Amino acid sequence: MADIGSPIKIGKLTLKNRITMAPTVKFDFTDDTGIATDILVQHYKERAEHGCALICVEATAIVPGGRFCRGHMGLYNDEQTESQKRITAAVHAAGIPVIIQLNHTGMTGNPELGPVIAPSAVDTRSGEKAHAMSIDEVHEMQRAYIDAAVRAKAAGYDGVQLHACHGYLINQFASPVVNFREDEYGGSIENRARFGAEIIAGIREACGPDFLIAARISGFEGSVEESVQTGEAYVAAGCDYLQVSNGIDDADRMERDETLPYNAVCELGVRFHEHFKGRVPVSCVNSILSPEEARYIIENDLCDTIDLGRGILADPALPDAILTGAPYVHCFECKRCQYGPFTQHKCPAEMKRRIAHA
Ligand SMILES: Cc1cc2nc3c(=O)[nH]c(=O)nc-3n(C[C@H](O)[C@H](O)[C@H](O)COP(=O)(O)O)c2cc1C
Repeated sequence: MADIGSPIKIGKLTLKNRITMAPTVKFDFTDDTGIATDILVQHYKERAEHGCALICVEATAIVPGGRFCRGHMGLYNDEQTESQKRITAAVHAAGIPVIIQLNHTGMTGNPELGPVIAPSAVDTRSGEKAHAMSIDEVHEMQRAYIDAAVRAKAAGYDGVQLHACHGYLINQFASPVVNFREDEYGGSIENRARFGAEIIAGIREACGPDFLIAARISGFEGSVEESVQTGEAYVAAGCDYLQVSNGIDDADRMERDETLPYNAVCELGVRFHEHFKGRVPVSCVNSILSPEEARYIIENDLCDTIDLGRGILADPALPDAILTGAPYVHCFECKRCQYGPFTQHKCPAEMKRRIAHA
């Protein structure tokens, strides 16, 4: 039986246990400058100090046009790189490694921030067609991901996580639902995985063998088996860690087995783990909100690590609670943290915690 408190090697890093923080954006914690602010530094410091083995800093834009909104962190200029050094220093001071998620919104982009681009000319949220990227634009965008990784390394990050799920640009390339290209970046699974795989190979070359490269991959594009093959392409290119979540094609087609004590998205990670066991570490995520759920997955060898999203937003002490049984405040599952500006939609668990500690 695996112990959730036992160390695990991921790439060249050794994590002290199996609990990691999932990337979770805080829209109004920065502004149009996209820099890491005091409140962001404090936010990650607090979550690094309570038992977690790895922090993954939130989705961070690789170019201005790839942001969700104006108040979104970026890693495309020197001021932003410099500001990120405060997050890495704060997390390292707590004795754990930290990576940052790199993202471009692609077809889900905000037209106020630039042309909305995608692998193919698909409909966007605004009803307009996305601009289908030319080969030169594909290569330029791959370069932007690699440059952002180089900036992350300069800022002191131990690695990066590519956002390759939840319907953003790398996921769009991998998905048969929105990628209709007829060149080497579309068609077969191998071709659709090429956009992400070449970025991974480029980061490995630019950042060296010790730099952790994780991919937060969609566990269902076409099928789980097809997504596993995309994962294989990323691993062959140099990816050290597959962190599995949902994507574009799973909405109605992911069957839920009601006999399983974890949810359907989590199950995608479990399926990846079955495939990559002993070869590549895999994490799962989604609705792991209590110590019992977290321990169940690791103790039954269903995944290598578990990622905490809302649970660790609600209370940074959740990892301590998982490891030692210490008290914590359970997430209310109210979805307020997903509404956008955090300062207007207060987390009730956080309010309860602050009152208890006042
Ligand atoms: C407030 C909030 C912000 C999020 N931001 C990101 C993000 O930046 N990148 C990402 O890949 N997923 C993001 N997610 C998804 C979470 O990482 C996670 O996959 C999801 O919340 C399910 O896990 P949970 O049930 O533990 O919260 C976000 C979720 C929430 C609630």
